[in-house]
Amino acid sequence: MIEAVSELAQRDARVMWHPYTQMQLDPQALPIVRGEGTLLFDEQGRSYIDAISSWWVNLHGHAHPHIVQAISDQARQLEQVIFAGFTHEPAIRLAERLLSILPPGLSRIFYSDDGSTAVEVALKMALQYWQNLGGKRTRILAFEGGYHGDTFGAMAAGRGLFSAPFDRYLFQVNQLPFPMAGAEERAIATLRAELQRGDVAALIYEPLLQGAGGMRMISAVAMAEVLSLARSQGVLLIADEVMTGFGRTGRLFASQTLGVNPDLICLSKGITGGFMPLGVTAASEQVYNAFLSQERLRMFIHGHSFTANPLACAAANASLDLLLQDETLRAISRIGAAHAAFLKRDNTSFAKNIRLCGTVMAFEVASTEGHSYTHALRDRLYQGFLAQRVLLRPLGNTLYVLPPYCISDAELQMVYAAIESVVKEAIE
Ligand SMILES: Cc1ncc(COP(=O)(O)O)c(C=O)c1O
Repeated sequence: MIEAVSELAQRDARVMWHPYTQMQLDPQALPIVRGEGTLLFDEQGRSYIDAISSWWVNLHGHAHPHIVQAISDQARQLEQVIFAGFTHEPAIRLAERLLSILPPGLSRIFYSDDGSTAVEVALKMALQYWQNLGGKRTRILAFEGGYHGDTFGAMAAGRGLFSAPFDRYLFQVNQLPFPMAGAEERAIATLRAELQRGDVAALIYEPLLQGAGGMRMISAVAMAEVLSLARSQGVLLIADEVMTGFGRTGRLFASQTLGVNPDLICLSKGITGGFMPLGVTAASEQVYNAFLSQERLRMFIHGHSFTANPLACAAANASLDLLLQDETLRAISRIGAAHAAFLKRDNTSFAKNIRLCGTVMAFEVASTEGHSYTHALRDRLYQGFLAQRVLLRPLGNTLYVLPPYCISDAELQMVYAAIESVVKEAIE
């Protein structure tokens, strides 16, 4: 689809190793020189609608002037300072603001670098919490099909295709069935059996929506039931809202829809509006208190060089300014309504297992068998969309749309039109 190979693309192909890319089959990356709003521009000035928010990070559009200004002002003031023994206003303000909008019960903010590190921090906090209390709870539970990142702890919690080459090096995490329709009873029964052993430290979950596992959506009631049972036995609940946070599922956080408040929550991706890498793990006062001691080594043993980077915090504060405006909250509902209207059209019969959650729409293409990450249709779809100047990156035969909130109605219609034509051509 990328016609003439540009000089930039050639230089890239000589030196680069791209993520989640089979470099032998897909050596050619598309150079992007500029972004504005929903659009990405290539070297020839052609625009692409970023319908997946650049791996689910962008909220308000590319190069949004308000966030650009905040980062630039902050860079002139203070670009970075060690966060052990030192602090700064953007980090404090962001922590205060996050705690005012997060589900109740969370009172402490720990910064890290990205979604995976936010998860590592939560897992380590949960494990050290029980160790500090002198207890015997040492095991983590997670859900089948979950994805929590690519570092070792996160992979241990999110076993599957993405962790497979490393499984033998990962610590034991027991998997519960994801309580989708038909699996609720099995999930509860498996959890009961696990709880009987009395050593479960924490349960990690993606509330409402498993992202990388195939955009699998779930009833809030079924999930809440499983979580409440775990909580009733003292298990710490870790909500991984790296993908679902900041409005993606309709509410600011998916945990609000679940109605079960976690002990720890992991945030990243949209937190900075997609401008800068930043991870956050918010903890309850109960978790935090277990680390207070006259013994220094009961402190939380974790930290990164760029913890609470001021530029990232400034970007996050600016993104929150935009997110909390009525206009943005209205846009979130508008996108959900547009998705629903599209899915009701007669000519979307190629869409199987249709699901919708807030601004995220997903379905399987041409297969009632469900999701397969290595499905042969994937490349045809991906390339077909790029040819129509739409960035959609199917998870195998699972097609999803997860746009920035600034996407216009006209752009949404262009995305839907591309889906109709590309999918039809691919399955013919
Ligand atoms: C639910 C969830 N947790 C964690 C991660 C890892 O985040 P990152 O890629 O920023 O390390 C992801 C990434 O897709 C995710 O979807």
